[in-house]
Amino acid sequence: MPVTIARPRSLRGEIIAPGDKSVSHRAIMFNALSNTGTARVTNFSPGADCTSTVEIMRALGVEISREAGAKGMGDSLTVKGVGLNGLQEPAGILDAGNSGTTTRLMSGILAGQDMLTILTGDDSLKSRPMGRVVKPLTSMGAVISGRANDTLAPLVFHGGSLHESSYEMPVASAQLKSCLLLAGLRADGTTTLTQPAESRDHTERMFSAMGVNLTKTGLDLVLEPSELETVDVEVPGDISSAAFWMVAGICHPDAELLINNVGINPTRAGIITALQMMGADLILVDEREVAGEPVADVLVRTSDLKGVELSGDIVPLLIDEIPVIAVAASLAEGETVIKDAEELRVKESDRIQASVSWLNGAGVDVVGTPDGMIVPGGGSIGGGQFQSYDDHRLAMSLGVAGLISTEPITVLDPDVAGISYPSFWEIIDQFGGLVG
Ligand code: S3P
Repeated sequence: MPVTIARPRSLRGEIIAPGDKSVSHRAIMFNALSNTGTARVTNFSPGADCTSTVEIMRALGVEISREAGAKGMGDSLTVKGVGLNGLQEPAGILDAGNSGTTTRLMSGILAGQDMLTILTGDDSLKSRPMGRVVKPLTSMGAVISGRANDTLAPLVFHGGSLHESSYEMPVASAQLKSCLLLAGLRADGTTTLTQPAESRDHTERMFSAMGVNLTKTGLDLVLEPSELETVDVEVPGDISSAAFWMVAGICHPDAELLINNVGINPTRAGIITALQMMGADLILVDEREVAGEPVADVLVRTSDLKGVELSGDIVPLLIDEIPVIAVAASLAEGETVIKDAEELRVKESDRIQASVSWLNGAGVDVVGTPDGMIVPGGGSIGGGQFQSYDDHRLAMSLGVAGLISTEPITVLDPDVAGISYPSFWEIIDQFGGLVG
């Protein structure tokens, strides 16, 4: 059912960010492959994507139990590791749903296993580029087939044995990097990766905590085949979910929001840098470390923003936040130019085209470019009825826009927010923003 959001008079209060999606996927997958016992994962992401990972691991014979977490926190899971070679051939097709992270990381796990597996997902997932993982895995010795000349899911993993490899990654992608590092654990020699730029490093951090022989020099990673040791993970709050409240709190004319328990890993925190560059009143409170990841509470207040250029190395550090940054940029004084973000075209939707299309519909003269967009700024966001293109981050960007726009915004397909943040609309309602 559609929802309609209108600007409440004020926006004040506290929110607890839900468990991080990227860390949650990894905590389950890596502990499932450990051979030293049972791990406990707390504050697990409530989104459907991470449940896809749990279900796939169960279908591969891994015992995972799940129970409700403490108040305000995500579920607690226990995962019994089966070792790198302990997965069982599944009886059916593995369904990754909407989750690119599940698909690409599982590809690294399934490649070269002595069994047949088939991995698929929803329509969006089946249109996303998988050649970027199939190609290097094949050159390591895996036998993989897929639609469109082995570039699209469903992907079929036939086995093969994995060899040492050295690969220059064509894109700064944490999913690709993690896929190849996972495959490298079971290879017969060293895996060397060269990255074009830094991307989120949760895999490297968790691998180090699990005893993997992995070294990093500049942007180069060198991994020796290693066993994994079980590690308990307290998942930090998801900065990509917190980003929606950061933008709402900064752009609303009468706002002060405290967002608790936000993971601020520097390879994820580009949104904080970008908003501060734009002049946002954004303060990190009580910076601390939780399970090897930096965490803080984020305090945001009504701010006057100015346009900026976002390009180059910062882009992979805020790639998922660009649809909501475009919302903030629409209200900033002066032009915001986003470049080097062509990866946005192959996310859950074409996020350049989707953002430009709905913002134009709401009266913002943003222009799309092949690798980004130009947002003129200095304006306001109007109202209207919009599709979220079946993309959770688009749906939530529309929700935030409704909290700050001059006229109400109706989101025709809001449920997709559940991919990463099922309680998102409830929180909008608590702020008095939901009017229909
Ligand atoms: C993710 C990496 C990013 C991001 C995605 C989650 C991860 O994708 O967009 O939402 O958990 O590794 P790429 O690494 O392909 O850029």
